[in-house]
Amino acid sequence: MKTIGKPLSRVDGLLKVTGRAVYTADVPASNVAYGAFALATIPSGAVTKIETAEAEKAAGVIKIFTHLNTPKLKPVKSPPAGQSFLPMQTAEIKYAGQPIALVVAETLEAAAHAADLISAEYKEDAFEIDFTKSKAKAYPAENFAEPNTKVGDFSFAALGASKTDAETASTKFLRRVYRTADRHHNPIESSASIAVWQNDDLLLYNTTQGVCSCRQTLADALGIEPERVRVVTKFVGGAFGCKGYVWAHEFLSAVAAREIKRPVKIVLSRDQDFTFHGHQCASEQTLTIAADKNGKLKALKHDSITPTSQFEDYVEYAAIGTRVMYAAPALETTHKIVKVDLNNPTPMRAPHEGLSMFGLESAMDELAFELKIDPIKLRLTNYAEKDPTSGKPFSSKKLRECYLEGAKMFGWNKRNQQPGSMIDGNHFVGIGVASATMTSFRFPSKARVTLEKNGAILVETATQEIGTGVYTVLAQMAAEVLEIPAEKIRVEIGDTLLPEANMSAGSSSTMGVGSAVLDAAMKLKRKIEELSGARYSPENLSNILEDKNLGKLAADGEWTPGNKNPLGEPDDVSMHTFGAIFAEVRVDRSLMIPRVARILGAYSVGRIVNPKTAKSQMTGGMIWGIGQALTEHSILERTYGCFLNRDLASYEVPVNLDVPVLEAHFVEEIDERASAFGGKGIGELGGVGVAAAIANAVFNATGKRVRNLPITLDKLI
Ligand code: MOS
Repeated sequence: MKTIGKPLSRVDGLLKVTGRAVYTADVPASNVAYGAFALATIPSGAVTKIETAEAEKAAGVIKIFTHLNTPKLKPVKSPPAGQSFLPMQTAEIKYAGQPIALVVAETLEAAAHAADLISAEYKEDAFEIDFTKSKAKAYPAENFAEPNTKVGDFSFAALGASKTDAETASTKFLRRVYRTADRHHNPIESSASIAVWQNDDLLLYNTTQGVCSCRQTLADALGIEPERVRVVTKFVGGAFGCKGYVWAHEFLSAVAAREIKRPVKIVLSRDQDFTFHGHQCASEQTLTIAADKNGKLKALKHDSITPTSQFEDYVEYAAIGTRVMYAAPALETTHKIVKVDLNNPTPMRAPHEGLSMFGLESAMDELAFELKIDPIKLRLTNYAEKDPTSGKPFSSKKLRECYLEGAKMFGWNKRNQQPGSMIDGNHFVGIGVASATMTSFRFPSKARVTLEKNGAILVETATQEIGTGVYTVLAQMAAEVLEIPAEKIRVEIGDTLLPEANMSAGSSSTMGVGSAVLDAAMKLKRKIEELSGARYSPENLSNILEDKNLGKLAADGEWTPGNKNPLGEPDDVSMHTFGAIFAEVRVDRSLMIPRVARILGAYSVGRIVNPKTAKSQMTGGMIWGIGQALTEHSILERTYGCFLNRDLASYEVPVNLDVPVLEAHFVEEIDERASAFGGKGIGELGGVGVAAAIANAVFNATGKRVRNLPITLDKLI
């Protein structure tokens, strides 16, 4: 391959670093009015009185919308609606921070000032935002994925499963409970919508991971044909899941603009990021393991409980990774959910496996330590040659190579299993390992590749650039087939007028959209050959249209996973990505402050299209994992029923000082079944396994096993 597999720099890099990339809030729209929200201050109940008179009189106010005068929306499906509980339709309050009024004014300042003048009285109901307090009310999840799986049988009761640990002559038993924290996405680019009506047609500039799904949801809510809605998003400044579904500001900007007959722009503030578009809910995971004295698993059970909102049954599948990881003869995963009075949780990089691999891989480390077995050896002892739950073969899997190559590159043999035994000056040094896995979501996609005047090539598809490098990767796909440099190819995305593509979620875009671009480019190549009557040569591109008196020559391509599973898993094989994550931590011996010294991830993901953007994806994921492990925690304020920390000063994400040497290694692999180029989706895998590797390293450094993320120094003292 000439272009696929090459570490090309981002084709949109110059636009981004010079500030010329146009993000939603930067789109110049004329005659625009500005929206600002007043928010509910209680988590549960109803608005009994809303006082807007003073706000109405404030300078610059055009109109104020509340539940009393907001036009009725039609019901929508969720997902992609972030909350099927649509905004300002009734007096009901289901979470603190829910919008109760939208002020539209001549300037942002006027709107924000008037919103501050609005007050409300409420009927307040009893509430609970902490799911651990209402665990008794947990019920089995029944969402789109199979919530509970079981193969084989094993009686933990025979081992005295009521105890935390038990040991018989032949069996080691352990049961441990792990917790991950509520977290928020916090992309640098706050969510924004600019709604422009042209007669009966809506043009929405919007921060979204899915222009097509957003169009459908808005059309449903507004009761108009999807063809009347156009959604445009040229660049997204980080999303991580919070711009996947459609949230209140997106519906309300469209409604308000239609009512006042003027474009309306809404940009969320940083604190609104903590209530408007979901969060990653906390999880409680119970791991129950039985193994023989050599570490061979006899049974493995992973039970998850997570909170959801009062109006949706969002499920965080916090036990899902355990279904595919180890060859246990008895294997069971369960998922339960509990209603709490918070906004709906939503996927956040990396959903499901990102939580479950903390529980599973911490427990495996505990088992390895107690049986005095090397953690990598324990994992190889229980290596799954086929999917242990479905029994299907894997489409491809090189996790063994990840462990072995990663261990060698990282210097695993320098590790001493005895906690606290590696000391460097004033620091305890610890080394840990954890496995990673992610489901390979695949979705049908369409694309068009066009030969234009002077041999220019245009790629078009309605996918989105959420920071992953999709402009570059799609250019590489067309460049590979048409044998021209990727830099010469123009890529147009992020517009519902273009050929339909899926939401940029679940690391699915390169597989689906990339394969569709390959298909379109190959079809264009054949069309060019037919037109010219000669074998394709890139040298002839520049004059071929003129010779035939044509303005352009376009070819439509598509790709579909071609199976029954709506999430794109093939019927006959199990398709997942894998990785082995190695972490070294240093813990200050006087202050017990944990810091990560280095991380290496070795990954099994099929063919890599662009090693440079791929490395950015994986190291970005590692930083995300450092946040999950050490800093990120949305704290519940139980008196008022909201999240307490709502800014980046009190919600801590890793900064440069927290980010050490990060390395990503991709083992040689091609997965013919995954996509047209033999590669799988990678981005979210980078965030998986990192927290467990760090927690395991912290144990190795200090002998303290922290089972409750994040690992803050108070838990180590
Ligand atoms: Mo990703 S959390 O599926 O946007």
